[in-house]
Amino acid sequence: MPDRNTARAGEVKIDLPSSFDANIYFIGRIRTPFKTRSDCPRNISQSTAEGRVEIDSRYAGGLADLSLCSHVWLMYWMDQARRDLIQQVPAHLGRPRGTFALRSPVRPNPIAIAAVELLGIEGTTLRVRNVDCIDGTPLVDIKPYFASIDSLPEARRP
Ligand SMILES: C[S@@+](CC[C@H](N)C(=O)[O-])C[C@H]1O[C@@H](n2cnc3c(N)ncnc32)[C@H](O)[C@@H]1O
Repeated sequence: MPDRNTARAGEVKIDLPSSFDANIYFIGRIRTPFKTRSDCPRNISQSTAEGRVEIDSRYAGGLADLSLCSHVWLMYWMDQARRDLIQQVPAHLGRPRGTFALRSPVRPNPIAIAAVELLGIEGTTLRVRNVDCIDGTPLVDIKPYFASIDSLPEARRP
């Protein structure tokens, strides 16, 4: 398994800005069965794995009413990914593609998204299905999944 912190032939690196534009708070951690990147499923569609989302107790009040949802969006921070590749060569493609046309964790802001099934909430822990990230991945946000807004069956993809 190649180390994905090493660029592949054909990949394009950029200089990142010298300072950040914003600060964020990690609101919790995602616990999964996957210890390394190579253990992880490629994306949520290839995962039936259950995980736990452990929320910092200071945000407990924000979980009110979330159990009304069958699915939620998780936004998380791919903390082990490099951030400076603007074109990448996915192993399955073998030629470069723009970072913003990829779901790769390697991006200037390594934010990932996943619509996961919400199996239950106990205190400040969510039980979810379909996780695809490394155990301990930091959580940035949770939002309800609304099929009326978020499902676009006509969408084209590369
Ligand atoms: C292709 S990304 C998809 C992430 C998200 N579902 C999305 O579409 O935005 C999933 C891959 O990221 C890698 N990964 C998982 N957790 C990571 C982490 N904490 N830091 C860096 N890479 C990670 C694993 O190789 C995993 O297969």
